Amino acid sequence: MTDLVQPATRPANPRFSSGPCAKIPTFTLDKLNDAALGRSHRAAIGKQKLKAAIETTREILGIPADYKIGIVPASDTGAVEMAMWSMLGARGVTMLAWESFGSGWVTDVAKQLKLDATVMTADYGQLPDLASVDFATDVVFTWNGTTSGVRVPNGDWIADDREGITICDATSAAFAMDLSWDKLDVTTFSWQKVLGGEAAHGMIVLSPRAVERLESYTPAWPLPKIFRMTKGGKLIDGIFVGETINTPSMLAVEDYLVALDWAKSEGGLAGLIARADANAKVIHDFCDAHDWIANLADDPATRSNTSVCLKFTDDRIKDGAVFAKAVAKRLEAEGVALDIGAYRDAPAGLRIWCGGTVETSDIEALMPWLDWAFNAEIAAQ
Ligand SMILES: Cc1ncc(COP(=O)(O)O)c(C=O)c1O
Repeated sequence: MTDLVQPATRPANPRFSSGPCAKIPTFTLDKLNDAALGRSHRAAIGKQKLKAAIETTREILGIPADYKIGIVPASDTGAVEMAMWSMLGARGVTMLAWESFGSGWVTDVAKQLKLDATVMTADYGQLPDLASVDFATDVVFTWNGTTSGVRVPNGDWIADDREGITICDATSAAFAMDLSWDKLDVTTFSWQKVLGGEAAHGMIVLSPRAVERLESYTPAWPLPKIFRMTKGGKLIDGIFVGETINTPSMLAVEDYLVALDWAKSEGGLAGLIARADANAKVIHDFCDAHDWIANLADDPATRSNTSVCLKFTDDRIKDGAVFAKAVAKRLEAEGVALDIGAYRDAPAGLRIWCGGTVETSDIEALMPWLDWAFNAEIAAQ
């Protein structure tokens, strides 16, 4: 063991997981007392709550009035899959991937849908060449690569006059980053990320162009019921006012409503972005001040303000993967940071969630512990 002195202060909440993420700071279970439990989700009260979840999402995220928002099965994955299965195949497809989840969507499109897609990839820490994306094709991408901590800097690279549609997995970006709705035809996210909600359902946001695609194109492959957004060539409007395809968890819905209320009390989207930015800045400043740790994202403009991924850069480290795991384990054993090991497919390192439900004071309290754990592991090697 080390004789290094431990920092005096511990994070009040050591939950820095990248999903499910920390619950809202004011969370207690009794906040869910109004949940419509044991009631039909088709009863007036259930429908009213589902509709409120949709419309409050629209209000906070500034989603245009003519975009449709649906609550769908199987979390963010369900929402991405239903979009790809329902809409791709009408024209060429470009898949962008720079980390594990984006790569997963490539696999789906190439191996399951068997589409001959143009695949543009980049290594962990980088982005593919966004300037050369062909918007005559449909384009599938992830706004924030959760496992590499690399995000697109903005939506400027997406053509206004695109012929194809864009499908954007924004699950670790929504409620923390400005999403350019005019550039996004399908946007998906889940509740357990930036708002710290309960994992269950996905959100799918459709632009008028996405609806047009759904109503004008029938894929060659069969679609299971939980993917079907049209009937007889027309959008099933009910899905987008809270008449879910199948049964949702009304407890998870209540929890999402409570999180949305908290988000409003924090200043809505601008407040949430400011919280995530402040959290990430604490880590960026720590990296600037220490030469043994660095952001995995090469270009500062692409650095995530939610899933901040870090790599150790000290020459004394013998085995990078063993070292990073040991640091994370040491911090977890001290109860100061839970679940901060890099994602299993990502380069060795740490990943610290900075979304708005995390308190800046907790990130600040964690930094000296990182220093402590690093030096303790160097000494223990
Ligand atoms: C970018 C991205 N896409 C998809 C997923 C899968 O999300 P879910 O578990 O909500 O389906 C995750 C989960 O971390 C993610 O970060």
